[in-house]
Amino acid sequence: MRRIYLVGFMGCGKSVIGQHLATKLGYAWVDLDTLLVKRQGCEIAQIFDTYGEAYFRKLETLLLRESKKWNKVVISTGGGIVMQEENRFLLKEEETFYLAWEGKTLYERVLADPSRPLASNREKLETLYELRLPLYEDIAAHKVWCEGKTPQRVVEEIIKAMEETNENSCH
Ligand code: S3P
Repeated sequence: MRRIYLVGFMGCGKSVIGQHLATKLGYAWVDLDTLLVKRQGCEIAQIFDTYGEAYFRKLETLLLRESKKWNKVVISTGGGIVMQEENRFLLKEEETFYLAWEGKTLYERVLADPSRPLASNREKLETLYELRLPLYEDIAAHKVWCEGKTPQRVVEEIIKAMEETNENSCH
């Protein structure tokens, strides 16, 4: 039984890497935000606008809880998943990979993206990044530095780390 979670700040490539990784492993791929949007029948920005961020976070936690029953799957999470204590607890128990980048690279990528309600300005992004960085570091069993690497290379590094985990575990 194996489940891989990808965490990291907005724009770090959780979806792109998740898809590549799942294909390589022959696993299913689930993007929690996409699933949430599908189930709610409205976009994330709309959920934030209509019901507020706290409501979105509740839905996110429900999905995360549900995901712990899945098997042979790569799960891409939303960048703010680490903001809830319960989520951090749930992710700490899992095989979680943190996709790490310099903040400034990420800001350029996501700044003013209308589909990301928390990316409206640079100051906000900087504050969130500083706040979240230690949380990603804390919950993830593995940190993969992504700066200057292709998605393929990042995927290879994740698979290598998975193999090492296999070798080190009791059979
Ligand atoms: C969020 C990140 C988004 C999405 C929502 C909130 C955040 O996902 O979950 O807009 O708080 O950082 P991505 O990390 O895929 O952009």
